This record gives sequence, C-alpha cells and structure tokens, in this order.
Amino acid sequence: MAAPPPDATSQLAQVASIVPCGSDGVLLRVIPRTPFGPLNAGRFFMLRRADGVGPLIPRPFSIFKQEGDSIEFLIKVIGPGTQALAGAAIDSDLTLIGPLGNGWPEIAPEPVNIMLAGGIGSAPFYELIQSKLAKGAAPESLLMIYGAATRGFLYDLEAFEQLGVRVLSTTDDGSHGFHGNVLQCLEAEWAAGRVSESAQLMACGPEPMLKAVGRLAEERKLKAWLSLESYMGCGVGICNGCVVATRPDGELGSWPNAKCCVEGPVFANEAVRL
Ligand SMILES: Cc1cc2nc3c(=O)[nH]c(=O)nc-3n(C[C@H](O)[C@H](O)[C@H](O)COP(=O)(O)OP(=O)(O)OC[C@H]3O[C@@H](n4cnc5c(N)ncnc54)[C@H](O)[C@@H]3O)c2cc1C
Ligand code: FES
Repeated sequence: MAAPPPDATSQLAQVASIVPCGSDGVLLRVIPRTPFGPLNAGRFFMLRRADGVGPLIPRPFSIFKQEGDSIEFLIKVIGPGTQALAGAAIDSDLTLIGPLGNGWPEIAPEPVNIMLAGGIGSAPFYELIQSKLAKGAAPESLLMIYGAATRGFLYDLEAFEQLGVRVLSTTDDGSHGFHGNVLQCLEAEWAAGRVSESAQLMACGPEPMLKAVGRLAEERKLKAWLSLESYMGCGVGICNGCVVATRPDGELGSWPNAKCCVEGPVFANEAVRL
C-alpha cells in the first residue's frame, strides 16, 4: 500500500523573498523552521498560507532550487492558491508539507539525457541538472529543451542557461528560440545529427505534451520518465484525488491506478497510461 515518504513533515516556513518571474510567475523562497538535508530533484511540497488567507487545501509545487537552508519554488499564478502564495508578506509563515513524492530516478547520463520542459514544467529540472553535474555528468551529456507558448512563459530561462549545459528554447509563436514545440525541436536536433538517437527522455509539462513524449518514446523504443502535475487534494496518499491509470504489464503491476502523490509524480512511461 502506497504511503507518504518517511521523511515528510508538516511545519512552518518563513517567506524570505517573492520575486516576479516571466509573464505570470513568481519565485517564492522560504526558510523552513527545521532545515532539510539535500532533497532529491523532482520531489515536491504542499504549500499554503498559515494565516488562513487562500484555500484551506494546500497546493503542490516542485522543488525548484535548494540553497543552504532555503527552498525556492517557481510558481505560475493561475488561481486562488497560487494568488494567495504570491501575495504572502515577506517574513510571514507558510505551511509546508513534505518532501513528498519519489523524484527523478537515478539514471546514467549516457549517451545523453534529454530533459523536455513545457512552461512551468521546467521547475523540477534545475536541481536535476545541478545534481547530475555535481555527480560528475559531462555537461554535453545533458540537453534541456525548454518550450512554451510564448517568451513570457519561459520562466527563469536565464537560470537554466547559466547551468553550463546545452539549453534549447522553443516557443509556439516564434517569439524566442526555435519556432515550434519541444518535440519538433528534438526531431530537428535528431535530423541534424546533433544529438544521439538513443537518448533517455525526462519530461514535465502539460498533459498533451507528456502524451506526445510518451508516444514518441514508444515509437522510437526510448526510455522515458514523465513527471505528472495531477490535481492533488492531500499529497500524502489519503484522498485518491491524484490517481493515474497504470498498465497491467508495467512495473506498477496489475492494480489499475497509481497515486501520483506517493508513487509519482515521476513515472516510467511504460508504467502508466495518460
Ligand atoms: C507534483 C506537482 C508539482 C507541481 N509543481 C508546480 C510548480 O513547480 N510550479 C507551479 O506553478 N505549479 C506546479 N504544479 C501545479 C500547481 O499545483 C497548480 O497550478 C496549483 O495547484 C493551482 O492552484 P490554484 O489554486 O492557484 O489554481 P486552481 O483554482 O486550483 O486552478 C486554476 C486553474 O488551473 C487548472 N489547474 C489547476 N491545477 C491543475 C493541474 N494540476 N493540472 C491541470 N490544470 C490545473 C484548474 O482547472 C483551473 O482552471 C504542480 C503540481 C503537481 C501535482
Ligand atoms: S493527492 Fe490525495 S491521494 Fe494523492
């Protein structure tokens, strides 16, 4: 039975900074009362304001950066939960539940890991790239393709570009980088022979993009991992609000559903059916 991770806690965290990012985003940095050791990239926290402003149900956000005692979240402001978080006062408290979820798997960066990010789906990749570099991955073994509808949704692109790995940006409207989506950009890279065709894919973004990545991986027989951003109620395996259909022949076995919050948010492509 899927259970919340043993290292998850519920505690207060003080808002250290909130900085606008992109057209509709913020970088929210918090200092938890009890600092965390190094957290695996791709895990997430449930966040809400401690002063009661905003929804009672906390919202899930990926760890964007972990620096010293602070944790930074990259948040697209779309509804009441994210508006309340973006409007929190500096030095005020948030309730922080986590770390939750499994995070990205440890996979060898050979011959190349390709990270496909759609819009705010870039958030779980910053720490992933940093950790792979820290563990000795060659920068040329990592490629990030970061796409969005338009330039304003390529949140904190500069931070990714400064990591020292190859970052290709794409926009649907051609306002920045490659004119097209992340998969069209990847196909163009393959066609030009600039990236190995036996790459391993890691993707996070809107569901249509993840479905397309899954199909591509199947067609080309590539390993792929998808980080899902399902709706979540509790984040700890109780409410069944986040289920994703599994494949009977996949690694999650014959049970028809998995809980995204405890068995994910990262799933092997062949384990789930989007
Ligand atoms: C594991 C995980 C990690 C996430 N990481 C981040 C992150 O790093 N940064 C970030 O900005 N967001 C992230 N999200 C998404 C974020 O949790 C939602 O955007 C947030 O809950 C919206 O809350 P709200 O109250 O502002 O909007 P709501 O009122 O809840 O929603 C506003 C609108 O967005 C739609 N919506 C809300 N949540 C989702 C969803 N999960 N999928 C599709 N549509 C949705 C609603 O239908 C509605 O139309 C993550 C989600 C998960 C599950
Ligand atoms: S969010 Fe409640 S079970 Fe996953």
